[in-house]
Amino acid sequence: MILNGLKLHNFRNYGDEPFAFDPAVNLILGENAQGKTNLLEAIAALSTTRLFRTGQKKEGVRLGENEAVITGDFVTENIEIELKMKIFREKTTEIWKNGSRLRRLSDAQGLLKTVLFCPDDLSLIRAGATARRKFLDTALCQLRPGYATVLAEYERVLAHKVRILRDSEDNPSLLDLLDDFTWRLCHLGALIIRYRARYVESLSARAGEIHAEAAPGEVLEVGYDTVRTVADPLASAEIIEGQLLEHAQAHRAAEIASRSTLSGCHKDDLSILLNGLPAASYGSQGQVRTAALALKLAERDMFYRADGEYPLLLLDDVLSELDRKRQDFVLNRLGDGQVFITSCEEEAAPRFGAGKIFRIAAGRVV
Ligand SMILES: Nc1ncnc2c1ncn2[C@@H]1O[C@H](COP(=O)(O)OP(=O)(O)OP(=O)(O)O)[C@@H](O)[C@H]1O
Ligand SMILES: [Mg+2]
Repeated sequence: MILNGLKLHNFRNYGDEPFAFDPAVNLILGENAQGKTNLLEAIAALSTTRLFRTGQKKEGVRLGENEAVITGDFVTENIEIELKMKIFREKTTEIWKNGSRLRRLSDAQGLLKTVLFCPDDLSLIRAGATARRKFLDTALCQLRPGYATVLAEYERVLAHKVRILRDSEDNPSLLDLLDDFTWRLCHLGALIIRYRARYVESLSARAGEIHAEAAPGEVLEVGYDTVRTVADPLASAEIIEGQLLEHAQAHRAAEIASRSTLSGCHKDDLSILLNGLPAASYGSQGQVRTAALALKLAERDMFYRADGEYPLLLLDDVLSELDRKRQDFVLNRLGDGQVFITSCEEEAAPRFGAGKIFRIAAGRVV
């Protein structure tokens, strides 16, 4: 997968800026706060339809403007695609593919595939469960088009159920709707759990291999933690749905009392073990970083395995956070795919073997 061209219009601190990229390594240099991460954020937005630094897409619209447009031209499996994302301050986001508007944002997820690696990912293992769910969801939304649709529907129904629980204090008749929403969440949740379980199974195997190369003798295992009553997350959707309902019914009274949703796959997590012990509490700083690196590099390999081509790799400032040994470990595994690396260090440039260097100052290529 190769992103050949990108045009930004009023996105973050960019006015109108075109980019023509190298098919291999693109180095994005500049001082702090010039727009390096903004550029990666725009590329990732075309792939995920989200902004990785905020849940509020309108924050991407340049201050003082009403509309931002990101246009990318890329090639996948010898097919050229133009994707255009229009973000508005007052309207919902639009996605256009080769000049036609797509009905749902989820229809665009995974056309352009990206794996982002930023300093926050180095704390993936010690961060809260939300970060690990996001790690799973970002990959799966791109890898499995059906997943993005089901997840979007789950989030919509969940938000509705949250409102029912919250407003039922003033309006108790709303609770008549509760069981129907719970049932819909269990139905969608069963589909989500199966996708996640299969993905984690292959991710764990690959991450284990990569970790063992970086830290010989250490065993990294990744497990999938979902709703307690689900005996086998790889079982059929019907079986899982029944087990989810069982858990939801057992928590019905508690959900009403606490006015919050206590049961469901929106609480899923990954368990990460090093030599059989929880990495978050037993791992050293270096071990935890290596394990996070292995997870992210394994994510990239999952894409290659699924498609036979590498996703774009977006490395935001991550190398500056690593010691020399781990930097080399990452750089040596980049292989054939297209890579975008941001850095503040002009002197570091020769090490990356960049085909093209973009120097960014105040939202312009200089
Ligand atoms: N909607 C917006 N409109 C205008 N400017 C914005 C908007 N959103 C962010 N910015 C500006 O973009 C700049 C940050 O850009 P970015 O995060 O890309 O910096 P960077 O080059 O990655 O810096 P660093 O090296 O510190 O990571 C900030 O100065 C910020 O004020
Ligand atoms: Mg930055």
